[in-house]
Amino acid sequence: MRVVVIGGTGHVGTYLVPRLVEAGHEVICISRGRREPYQPHGAWSRAQRVVVDRVEAEAAGEFGRRVAELVPDVVIDMVCFTLDSARHLVEALRGKVRHFLHTGTIWVHGPTAEAQTTEQQPRRPFGEYGIRKAAIEDYLLGQARRSGFPVTIVHPGHIVGPGWAPVNPAGNFNVEVFAKLARGEEVALPNLGLETVHHVHADDVAQVFVKAMANWSSSVGESFHAVSPAALTLRGYAESVAGWFGKEAKLRFLPWEEWKATASREDADATWDHIAHSPNCSIEKARRLLGYQPRYRSLEAVREALSWLIEAGRVSI
Ligand SMILES: NC(=O)c1ccc[n+]([C@@H]2O[C@H](COP(=O)([O-])OP(=O)(O)OC[C@H]3O[C@@H](n4cnc5c(N)ncnc54)[C@H](OP(=O)(O)O)[C@@H]3O)[C@@H](O)[C@H]2O)c1
Repeated sequence: MRVVVIGGTGHVGTYLVPRLVEAGHEVICISRGRREPYQPHGAWSRAQRVVVDRVEAEAAGEFGRRVAELVPDVVIDMVCFTLDSARHLVEALRGKVRHFLHTGTIWVHGPTAEAQTTEQQPRRPFGEYGIRKAAIEDYLLGQARRSGFPVTIVHPGHIVGPGWAPVNPAGNFNVEVFAKLARGEEVALPNLGLETVHHVHADDVAQVFVKAMANWSSSVGESFHAVSPAALTLRGYAESVAGWFGKEAKLRFLPWEEWKATASREDADATWDHIAHSPNCSIEKARRLLGYQPRYRSLEAVREALSWLIEAGRVSI
């Protein structure tokens, strides 16, 4: 099939585009052309690259038409963040595509209520990003179920892979937390360290997209989590990371307000966003309907990313 990936050179696209090419699809990747995929792969020479700035093209009212003119069978949208953006594209592609796959987020759920969270649970998002993504999901599923628009939604967890910093055991992106654990130095965690994070390797997110395409009749009109088999508590995560370097984690536990005062504003905001959600999502639906088999547990995915950070000199151990 002819597959257009909007935003195909990022975390997920790095793995998705080669998977699609290798499966025999004709792939067209839309981006602004500002960055290259994180890993080189020969498949990129067989993918077509089209340079479009979605934000500018949408403002001019022509993004949907530009995508439709590529005559895709399938469109995978990696970078949709507003309801207007989703509507604009759906209107342009209605009746013209066999499958439309949208990238959501597990943040559509808001705080975990009954773990593991399933796709069926009522949405209680908070924060602008999660609220907007939940509104897009509601709109797209409505389009699928009312008017047969062939949409599937994939909700990734915290995407991990070699080339960028994963969410760390303190729930933020400060790589010094990894370095301290590796050196056996003390790390402070908020509360009892029992709040959770739920990672996923970027290649496993790509796997969900490819399997959703291959299982069209089960995936249309549905949302799927794309996460690892199990979430991690901050404490368990920190202990594992220290253990990789032969160290015992020296952890100090501080009530949130005290912990917050030890961190920069940026780190504290990121940690709060993660622990206030404390995601813990089920992959049962993706396993059952799509045959999703994650290649990576959370710790395996993070270990691969951390090895890359050390080799790149971004974490000194
Ligand atoms: N990262 C996470 O942990 C995470 C977790 C849950 C959900 N998600 C969802 O995953 C999606 C992002 O996927 P990702 O992390 O693989 O993406 P990413 O690494 O942020 O890459 C974004 C891609 O889109 C392109 N792009 C950005 N702005 C563009 C524009 N205005 N016009 C055209 N192309 C543009 C980028 O290339 P250029 O810069 O060259 O244009 C790149 O190819 C989002 O929908 C996000 O909500 C992410």
